[in-house]
Amino acid sequence: MGNEEMMSISKKRGFLYPSFEIYSGVAGFYDYGPLGGILKNNIMNLWRKYYVAREGFYEIEAPTIMPRETLKASGHVDNFTDPMTQCTECHEVYRADHIIEAAINKEVEGLPDEELTKIIEDNNIVCENCEGKLSPVRSYNLMFKTEIGVSGKQIGYMRPETAQGIFIAFKRISRFYKDKLPFGIVQLGKSYRNELSPRQGVIRLREFTQAEAEIFVDPSDKSHRYYKNIEDYELELYSQEEQLNDKKPVRLTVKDAIESNVVSSEMLVYQLVLAREFLKDLGIPNEAIRFRQHLPDEMAHYAIDCWDAEVKTDQYGWVEIIGIADRTDFDLKSHIKHSKEDLSVFKEYDTPKKVVKTTPSFNMKKFGPTFKGDSPKAKEILENTNPEVIIDSFKTNGTYKFNIGDNEYEIDDSFITFETKEEEIRGERIVPHVIEPSYGIDRIIYSTLLHSYTEDVSDEGEKRAYLKIPAIIAPIKVAILPLVNKEPLVDIAKDIEITLRENNMISSFDGSGTIGRRYARADEIGVPFAVTVDYDTIDDKKVTIRNRDTFEQKRVAIRRLPIIIKELVEGNITFEELEE
Ligand code: GLY
Repeated sequence: MGNEEMMSISKKRGFLYPSFEIYSGVAGFYDYGPLGGILKNNIMNLWRKYYVAREGFYEIEAPTIMPRETLKASGHVDNFTDPMTQCTECHEVYRADHIIEAAINKEVEGLPDEELTKIIEDNNIVCENCEGKLSPVRSYNLMFKTEIGVSGKQIGYMRPETAQGIFIAFKRISRFYKDKLPFGIVQLGKSYRNELSPRQGVIRLREFTQAEAEIFVDPSDKSHRYYKNIEDYELELYSQEEQLNDKKPVRLTVKDAIESNVVSSEMLVYQLVLAREFLKDLGIPNEAIRFRQHLPDEMAHYAIDCWDAEVKTDQYGWVEIIGIADRTDFDLKSHIKHSKEDLSVFKEYDTPKKVVKTTPSFNMKKFGPTFKGDSPKAKEILENTNPEVIIDSFKTNGTYKFNIGDNEYEIDDSFITFETKEEEIRGERIVPHVIEPSYGIDRIIYSTLLHSYTEDVSDEGEKRAYLKIPAIIAPIKVAILPLVNKEPLVDIAKDIEITLRENNMISSFDGSGTIGRRYARADEIGVPFAVTVDYDTIDDKKVTIRNRDTFEQKRVAIRRLPIIIKELVEGNITFEELEE
């Protein structure tokens, strides 16, 4: 239970509804309505609180249209594909892995096209529409293609992930952070994937919003400075091993997960904890969250390890809402290769290292007569030979032999001498690895709404169905209700509404119907607090605040309202702690 009822409220009350409805709609596109738009921003701003304010990762904004060469370099032009099969009768298109999974209940994501074709044939899987034969499976690129400019010469794509805008600007970002690893950068914004045949509503959109952090780390040090603080934190983990052996997820402390190598690094597990905390703030209950490790076949082309935060849904089963991947140096190395730019950083050692350096010096007077035209080549070969090899040969044989083409030469220490010096090395250039938490904002909003859907009995004894959205993200924070729709109560209520709005709290005045009806209307859309203006207000300048979730009521002075509502919304005080 939940999806249908929640979506009904969502559409009716302006959270989420299919796009282009008056033109019959297009699968894979949803509008955020008047309340949904605010909810989305509130959730994105909460995310920023975690990643920008708390973690200290600055935010960038790169274009959503990208030239082909950038996505060729990242591997998306060649590898960002889904397997497609088409009905040979009615021409309906399917994602091959999805139609197989639906028909025989077997996870096949990531298998090669030939294997998928064979599974379809072996299991007689046919078109869901007309039972026609399905075509052999072939890979289909998911990116929306476009042209940049009118000449037709420059192909562009709508970005398939926000991450690439960060990798491409890495040189400037690294300079901004003065090359000091680890550092993180975030980007929130639209990404686009031309999904084959999206049949899962908000869960599979063709235009969607991501919030991604790219955390650049030293490949030899994936520790986290706050690891000690999270060691006892418990996570529900569904590792490759459990999945491959048909076992259930296990609840492990962070310490156990790291010590038993279930999660590969402190940096990665820290991101799992952060994701878990964020989802808790959104009101998604413990039992509806787990972290599932990608199976080797399922991993994106750039990742060596990936954990999905999955949320339980009644309609779609467990749904991935956050992917947390170790992308190694795949992206930076690909962009180094294609752009020919140096995207390494200088890693300074804690203490400079002393190294003994042996350099050759040549007696060029002897080179000409001996090597003639081979002189420059001889010098180059000797310069690039390990000095120890030549010195050893002098010691044991008195000479050193080497070839240039078919000519064999023999030299002694009158041709070359070596000077040994101790040098101090301050550091080295390295290409960082990347740890990436990638949040699918639309799926997160869907999960938040789904798990906020609640049915119980109201303070008026009526059955009520409502969205128990946490106050911090609720679009409307307060409903202002005059006990009766008459002056001077209406005037006082409207003044309160204006004052709260001036204090950056969206509040809504509602004067029509019984007070019970008005509470129900506010509850339904998740308004956490209702303020009632009654006849006593005229004299005592006080109002009653009602808590949506507990029905508790407190009477407080109007002048205190802005600060009280702010403290309640931000969770600095609980309703029980509120003094009358
Ligand atoms: N950046 C990871 C993803 O878009 O899936």
